[in-house]
Amino acid sequence: MSNICVIGTGYVGLVTGTCFADLGNQVTCMDIDPDRIGKLLNGIMPIYEPGLEQLVTQNVQAGRLHFSTDHAQSLANAEFAFIAVGTPSGEEGEADMQYIRSAVESIAEHVDHPIIVVNKSTVPVGTGDLVAEIITRRRGNKPLEFSVVSNPEFLREGSAIIDFMNPDRIVLGSVNKEAANKVAQLYLSLRCPILVTDLRTAEMIKYASNAFLATRISFINEISNMCDELGADVREVALGMGYDKRIGHAFLDAGLGWGGSCFPKDVKALAHMAVLHGTHPQLLQAVMEINRNQRRRVVMRLRRALGNLNEKVIGVLGLSFKPNTDDIRDSPSLEVIHLLENEGANVRAYDPQAMEATARVIKHITLVKNPYEVADGADALVLATAWNEFKQLDFNRIKASMKQAIILDGRNLWDPAQMRHIGFQYIGCGVGASSNGNPQ
Ligand code: UGA
Repeated sequence: MSNICVIGTGYVGLVTGTCFADLGNQVTCMDIDPDRIGKLLNGIMPIYEPGLEQLVTQNVQAGRLHFSTDHAQSLANAEFAFIAVGTPSGEEGEADMQYIRSAVESIAEHVDHPIIVVNKSTVPVGTGDLVAEIITRRRGNKPLEFSVVSNPEFLREGSAIIDFMNPDRIVLGSVNKEAANKVAQLYLSLRCPILVTDLRTAEMIKYASNAFLATRISFINEISNMCDELGADVREVALGMGYDKRIGHAFLDAGLGWGGSCFPKDVKALAHMAVLHGTHPQLLQAVMEINRNQRRRVVMRLRRALGNLNEKVIGVLGLSFKPNTDDIRDSPSLEVIHLLENEGANVRAYDPQAMEATARVIKHITLVKNPYEVADGADALVLATAWNEFKQLDFNRIKASMKQAIILDGRNLWDPAQMRHIGFQYIGCGVGASSNGNPQ
């Protein structure tokens, strides 16, 4: 059993802290935001993450998980200080380091015993060295015995607990192999490959992984746009490619593209790092450009189906950037809504979890209680997020209530043949002619 302090209670920090507590450690999750900690102390989760509330409650009751706003108290007995604070995009696409710096400063200020500082936040390559520098400088002639380990996270929102408990790999980067091995001990019970590297390599593994996944999605979206024109079905193209073990099936779902708090920020930050160091990130630029265009394409295709969008009523199903989360950061759905409104459309939307978050950001948006209200009187319906709830709807009822039976399936969630049989003009993403000889 180890004593762990996790700084930052976003979805990474909170999930990491809670899971470490569940593995039997003593964990304090600390955050400078008193509202967040107040909520957590009252058993209220600041984010929607399946299974999190129950796991937090169990571990608080077992006396292994604590919450605090107090640095000194949280770090008092910690052998490990995990940093899991945000690194939002700065003005040029660079990662904004202010929260990392201030977390490191507080460790330097409040710790007086040997400690391993573990960085979980996604940070520019070279940050591990910067962390060591900040601590050393800050302590001056009262040196602290510490090591820095980079331990990037690979958790997906919506399945973060399952991902934590069943990792494909753990990556640990450090100049101090003994410190990396101590961090490795925390993960031993998860029985997965543990890769120990130097600091910079571990930091790069994180960026390269996210950028590669984003590249796969943009790649299949480019193929999907060609499928639209050439009459092939991208879903079967992806399947056929995926059986090749060198390619695999994951992250080849064509649609509105990638969003969220990670891919957009990380691909941008990696490209920014490349430029800063004199290399030309032409692939990453194309990956981002393709992704932007997927959102614009929706509007273009609706325009083609409806003539012009002025005063047209467009229903949008799904607001979060992907299913099983209430996160709307860089959500393709919100961008599509913005573009539709720009063309004069009246948008009406529904999401199972993300309505509150959306109402805070888009004040004027019309949010309704269910998918049927979205469809009622609409000129077209856009499926933007592939929530399970949208898979099985009463499509005859939906068709009967719409002004024009046009659906744009932005996630290829529905069966084109079934939709066309019901009488919809179905517009998918790259499903081409194979569905019914009716390419869009
Ligand atoms: C992503 C990575 O998958 C995690 O490994 C990583 O830890 C995390 O970022 C992070 O850096 O914190 P996440 O942002 O939660 O996780 O979401 P994903 O499930 O990866 O999906 C990202 C976006 O890609 C979503 O908008 C999703 O709809 C889209 N997507 C995904 C597709 O359009 N097609 C696909 O085939 C897969």
